[in-house]
Amino acid sequence: MELLLLLLMLTSCAAIPQNLSGKMFVFPEQTNTAHVRLIAPSKPLSAATVCFRSITDLSREHSLFSMATPAADNVLLIFKAKEQDTFFFYTHNNQAIFGGQDYKVNEWQSICGTWDGSSGLVQLFKDGKHSVKKLGGKSTISNPTIILGQDQDAVGGRFEAEQSFVGMMSDVHMWDYKLSDCEIKRYMEEVNFTPGNVLNWHALDFQITGKVLIDVKQMVC
Ligand SMILES: *[C@@H]1O[C@H](CO)[C@@H](O)[C@H](O)[C@H]1NC(C)=O
Repeated sequence: MELLLLLLMLTSCAAIPQNLSGKMFVFPEQTNTAHVRLIAPSKPLSAATVCFRSITDLSREHSLFSMATPAADNVLLIFKAKEQDTFFFYTHNNQAIFGGQDYKVNEWQSICGTWDGSSGLVQLFKDGKHSVKKLGGKSTISNPTIILGQDQDAVGGRFEAEQSFVGMMSDVHMWDYKLSDCEIKRYMEEVNFTPGNVLNWHALDFQITGKVLIDVKQMVC
């Protein structure tokens, strides 16, 4: 019995953070299963910044970054809407709609979202440009489940293939505060920036389910 417990503890602690510098996740096909779960420290969040780079040829809607809690399946969600150049940025299930975002297919794009839990204001940044600020949800976020590749309609599940991400994603970082505009710019230009203190691509704790591959990040030569 004690041995079994020890084994269970060992396997649950076995996830050693990986340095994915120069790597990317490849989501090669549309499924309602394939995803990456990102493991973050359990400290509650009263603000957040999420940044990532992605490339896709999808024209349908798709999830880019999905965080869920038992209270809110869209506790923080960055979602490309069906409408051209439009994003939904949810916090605590409140939807902020960002239009005119010039979303390109077959091109790497840098996307960041900031959320201030005291004012509830959210803002989107894409390739060096900031959106207007809109109203999201207030109050802290506790123990979210964070998933790439699928949209959670319940904690860790109820995925729909028609909302899955197909493409490649890299440089995922999350901070427990609102990054300054200059720091976001540095992230977007891939120069020295402070790595995420909630999720850090250079020390990422994650679990892959289904067909998601890790490959060398493709650069434009
Ligand atoms: C991750 O790897 C890159 C490239 O090999 C290296 O420059 C960087 O220092 C590493 N970061 C950490 C946190 O280990």
